[in-house]
Amino acid sequence: TFDSKEVASKKAAARIAELIQDRDSKGENTILGLATGSSPLGVYAELIRLHKEEGLSFQNVITFNLDEYLPMDANSAHSYVYFMQENLFKHIDIKPENIHIPDGTLSQEQVDSFCQEYEQKIAAVGGIDIQLLGIGRTGHIGFNEPPSSLDSLTRQVILHEITRIDAAPGFGGIEHVPSSAITMGVGTIMKAKEVIMLAWGESKAAIVKEMIQGEISEQVPATFLQYHANTQVYLDKTAASAL
Ligand code: F6R
Repeated sequence: TFDSKEVASKKAAARIAELIQDRDSKGENTILGLATGSSPLGVYAELIRLHKEEGLSFQNVITFNLDEYLPMDANSAHSYVYFMQENLFKHIDIKPENIHIPDGTLSQEQVDSFCQEYEQKIAAVGGIDIQLLGIGRTGHIGFNEPPSSLDSLTRQVILHEITRIDAAPGFGGIEHVPSSAITMGVGTIMKAKEVIMLAWGESKAAIVKEMIQGEISEQVPATFLQYHANTQVYLDKTAASAL
């Protein structure tokens, strides 16, 4: 628990930068699993600052984003492709071919094979080193809404009503929020070597308590992180207030 989300975000970014530099010194790639939404914005801002002011390079970084709405045009301002470009990628020196984000433009017939390939691509580079996560009020991680099983993999999911309500302001009304998404599974996330979970604000206090102290259950997918041996939960005071 930190005094503020700004302080916590800097700590999380420093951990990511430390790993990138360590891998760079060995001539190895760093594989990052990335999230969208409001929670990681401060981490991305700090990574950009470290790139611009302290020479942190992303030349050897490969990224896999957790999720994308379906259907979603990549050029739309609502897409997670656009979000990642604006909030991180266009400000750093990552190679475009090293960026992976689930494709919201796929037809129903294409989704399953795309999801299998996404898993294979993660495995082919040796798995995710650090996975950044936020938590939804439903207890989702990625878009693994309740119920999601421990061994679930990248797949199409139906978004929970609460998740769509939370997304509605950005879309100008719930009727404009897509009903589906493609998301990495709980099992995909659990394979990450290290997990950094970020949660800020009063609205997350109840679900943060459930995640950390609640019974492990498919009904609160984030509780599966209790099984993960190397998860750090970064909280501000308000998100930690129910613990
Ligand atoms: C985003 C994602 C979601 C969010 C969660 C919290 O890629 O997978 O699980 O992390 O909905 O969203 P914010 O951070 O906006 O509160």
